[in-house]
Amino acid sequence: MRFLHCSDIHITQNYASAPFFKLGWRRWMAMFELTVGGRATDYRDAARTLQRIVGDVERHKADHLLISGDVTAYATDAEFRAVRQALGVIADDRTVCSLIPGNHDVFTPNAERHRRFQSYFGHLLTSDMPEYQREDAFPFVHLKGEEAAVVGLMSARVMPMPGFAYGHIGAAQLSGLRDVLDDPRMRHRAILVMVHHAPLNARGLPDSRIHGLVDADALLRMLPGPRFGVLHGHLHERYHHAATSTRPHTFCAGSSTQRGREGYWLIEVADGLIRGGSVHMPDLSPER
Ligand SMILES: [Fe+2]
Ligand SMILES: [Fe+2]
Repeated sequence: MRFLHCSDIHITQNYASAPFFKLGWRRWMAMFELTVGGRATDYRDAARTLQRIVGDVERHKADHLLISGDVTAYATDAEFRAVRQALGVIADDRTVCSLIPGNHDVFTPNAERHRRFQSYFGHLLTSDMPEYQREDAFPFVHLKGEEAAVVGLMSARVMPMPGFAYGHIGAAQLSGLRDVLDDPRMRHRAILVMVHHAPLNARGLPDSRIHGLVDADALLRMLPGPRFGVLHGHLHERYHHAATSTRPHTFCAGSSTQRGREGYWLIEVADGLIRGGSVHMPDLSPER
């Protein structure tokens, strides 16, 4: 079984034409990153690149598309609409597509209050094991055949201000995950846990206090060995740490649509174990 894992799509609307006062102070502050920081240029082609990645699901005969959050830049309706459109029909069906929110998808209290992410993607958060959903829809479980399962966790929280981007899963979801893992239906399956924030950075160390996953240790301890994988994004680098006897594989998909750094993982599962992954690039030729 083969999983295509991408992340941090960051489809970005044209903020120059957006009504300034409706954006709110958080997005005003973020405009600096967008303009001077070059972010708008980096993600100008994000929607088209995402379409190519979706096309690659078929090209590589992947069984499932996994997206580990930050699909938008600043969680506006226009951005969510564009993500939904670029994903196309695959996003109608949770038997072939799993998606969780990142911190950019809950960028403002309003976006969270209005459940904007859920209004576009809530149908993908329904679970094959609803009895273990503890915080809103999380953790959700998508069973894949007889030998794999995808578990979605939510670590993205509204931050006090731009510049802070840490995340936490919390005790309720972790206890739900414990119960999922103890369920007999999970016994012989490879388990791919999606969370937005990085439990380990590219050097195998915890990410910083203002950017990292607060309860990374608790999560990793629950998932020892090659039957388990944690699939994440948030750090815009692509790397893999192989499983050990005390922790799972971790795959960071980086930012799959960032100009010049496009790419994603194909993760292979066989006999209920995660066998590893390979990095691929979408075909970006303009004529297609
Ligand atoms: Fe990101
Ligand atoms: Fe992020």
